[in-house]
Amino acid sequence: MNENKIKWNSSLYDDKHQFVSNFGEDLVTLLAPRKDEHILDLGCGTGQLAAAIAASGALVEGIDHSEDMINTAKETYPEISFLVEDAESMNYKMKYDAIFSNAVFHWITDPAKAANNVYNALKQGGRFVAEFGGKGNVDHMLNALDKAFIANGYTENSNIRFWYFPSIGEFTSLLEKSGFRVIYAIHFDRPTELTDKENGVKDWFRMFGEKFFKGLSGHEIEDVLEKTQNSLKDKIFRDGKWLADYVRIRIVAIKS
Ligand code: BEZ
Repeated sequence: MNENKIKWNSSLYDDKHQFVSNFGEDLVTLLAPRKDEHILDLGCGTGQLAAAIAASGALVEGIDHSEDMINTAKETYPEISFLVEDAESMNYKMKYDAIFSNAVFHWITDPAKAANNVYNALKQGGRFVAEFGGKGNVDHMLNALDKAFIANGYTENSNIRFWYFPSIGEFTSLLEKSGFRVIYAIHFDRPTELTDKENGVKDWFRMFGEKFFKGLSGHEIEDVLEKTQNSLKDKIFRDGKWLADYVRIRIVAIKS
């Protein structure tokens, strides 16, 4: 298991971060799954989008590195096959007509390896349809967190980085190096409403940003989160809502 992986809590994910799957639904439209196609949902989480894909009659398999997510997916959708596995270690050959991936690639530590694995797992002519955080993703939120760390004297924490947010040029070049022909690529802003109207930013960092807080006590973390959220009010709080400054990359690439 890769060190970069965080321990996911599937109920917190489904309760407070439902927007991840909700936004993925129009990525399913871009995938345009067809009956009897073999499709892999890479990083399937709790399985909601795998189920949306399976509704087309496609034969779907879901993989995720988190056992907790996979257990929830299996319980919720027993008719779909789910497995604990990840993009960097998966080793399928010419198996799928399409590989779908929503909000996963920014977690990957070796994107070139993952792109090669995706390429190898596709049949000739197969498609890779993905969306994830691109260059500039959550910049306001990360800058606010860094400032709060520095204000509290935790300079080392302010240097921690572990997400992959490439530019569109960087990512499409990487895919081309693996042998893909990229037929669609877009890099766009999508301010994303966080579920909790009071503590949306704090919840987001608690869910996804555990690794930033290395070495800090619970009390110290809460203080940093309070400062981070307060300083973001004039940047990403509008009409009573927290809008995370998400920037997405969306691509369709063909194994040609
Ligand atoms: C994203 O969807 O952009 C994202 C989610 C969690 C951590 C980092 C980025």
